[in-house]
Amino acid sequence: MRAPRTFHVKSFGCQMNVYDGERMSELMATDGLVAADADSADLVVLNTCHIREKATEKVYSDIGRMRKTARLAGRAAPMIAVAGCVAQAEGEEIVARAKVDVVVGPQAYHRLPALVRDAAAGAPAIDTALPALAKFAGLPARRRVAPSAFLTVQEGCDKFCTYCVVPYTRGAEVSRPFAAIVDEAKALIDAGAKEITLLGQNVNAWADGEQGLHDLIRALDRIPGLARIRYTTSHPNDLTQGLIDAHRDVAGLMPFLHLPVQAGSDRVLRAMNRSHTRDGYLRLIDRIRAARPDIALSGDFIVGFPGETEAEFAETLGLVDAVGYAQAFSFNYSPRPGTPAATLPGRIAPEEMNERLQRLQAAINRDQLAFNRASVGRICEVLIERPGKRPGQVLGKSPWLQSVHLDAAAPIGDLIAVELVEAGPNSLAGVARIQAAA
Ligand code: SAH
Ligand code: SF4
Ligand code: F3S
Repeated sequence: MRAPRTFHVKSFGCQMNVYDGERMSELMATDGLVAADADSADLVVLNTCHIREKATEKVYSDIGRMRKTARLAGRAAPMIAVAGCVAQAEGEEIVARAKVDVVVGPQAYHRLPALVRDAAAGAPAIDTALPALAKFAGLPARRRVAPSAFLTVQEGCDKFCTYCVVPYTRGAEVSRPFAAIVDEAKALIDAGAKEITLLGQNVNAWADGEQGLHDLIRALDRIPGLARIRYTTSHPNDLTQGLIDAHRDVAGLMPFLHLPVQAGSDRVLRAMNRSHTRDGYLRLIDRIRAARPDIALSGDFIVGFPGETEAEFAETLGLVDAVGYAQAFSFNYSPRPGTPAATLPGRIAPEEMNERLQRLQAAINRDQLAFNRASVGRICEVLIERPGKRPGQVLGKSPWLQSVHLDAAAPIGDLIAVELVEAGPNSLAGVARIQAAA
């Protein structure tokens, strides 16, 4: 196979997967390849997600579709590299099943250029080693980024929730060193970022010596040019008082917290190995709200875990009522190969799961709309992130991570004072105001 001259990276997964995709793109560009669209690139990197069965299967259907498109257009099929969490979980099986050229795991993608050269020379090109943090030293500096940028500070997970593949695909919990993160933050700001979202599978487990995530946040808040800090995803067990205090004190830390709980029943939480209770979670929420009353809360839920009864599911609905989320993600349970829950008895029928999911999503949507409606009349800063659908319209985010659209000639990357004037379920309309944000 000819060495590729153009490339395309397609990311399928979580925010960290998107971050990895950006860094792979920067790496390939530094290696001399030119970015192209998916249908014409010589090399397509599929940056995959293994979290649920649907995500994994999508990779295989995508590969088939890409080859067919190339064939119908009379082009040679592109070189295909499978990166990300499916690469880590399935390794050589992907080559056997789909005859792809390169397989590279999420901790080894700094080796992508070398693997692509190996593949072009006809050699096997698979790297699913899990060295802690090795990749970061091998990645080029950040150069041009959007106003809101991601920065991975922590990777991996030691929690082993019984349904979840992440501890196997990302490896053990590791934190990047304080100095490396500050350097990357400064590079992101120089490259145009106004907001940085710190990423980790358990971001609040980040530590460097005595320092915890709250110390890192306080240090980043002092960097000139950085207006906003966010972080995701947090685990309830690692939510320290220091972090709660930071939400009270640090002006640049946005009033938003994504704190997955997964289920409302203690029996289900135990079976999931979540190691926190319903009550423990609700008490945490009380403490966060006491420190930062306007905080917007978000969560993740799994519906239909094996053995979940209707009464146990009702406890999830009750928890949603008790918290009043500003937004939340919810998923049907998907059995994952190699996880303990996959062999549990009591699988819930798909129709039953769908029915529960719909009820849960109706409750979440109701609260999301209520949260947005309660924001009408507020004057806040909006970070302008992109042009809107209509000419003259721009889109941005409120401090509470709501999408806000407004008719204003505001440049992308500006922070402007906006009055929120109208609420829908997924976004708000705003009007630019001259005065400083309240
Ligand atoms: N580390 C984060 C995110 C993990 S993956 C955390 O612990 O919160 C994101 C979400 O996917 C999880 O919070 C969970 O709600 C969902 N998820 C994980 N495994 C799943 C599975 N097997 N089936 C359905 N949803 C799953
Ligand atoms: Fe998965 Fe649980 Fe770890 Fe989150 S805390 S990544 S859900 S094992
Ligand atoms: Fe998916 Fe891996 Fe993220 S499994 S959710 S891409 S950590």
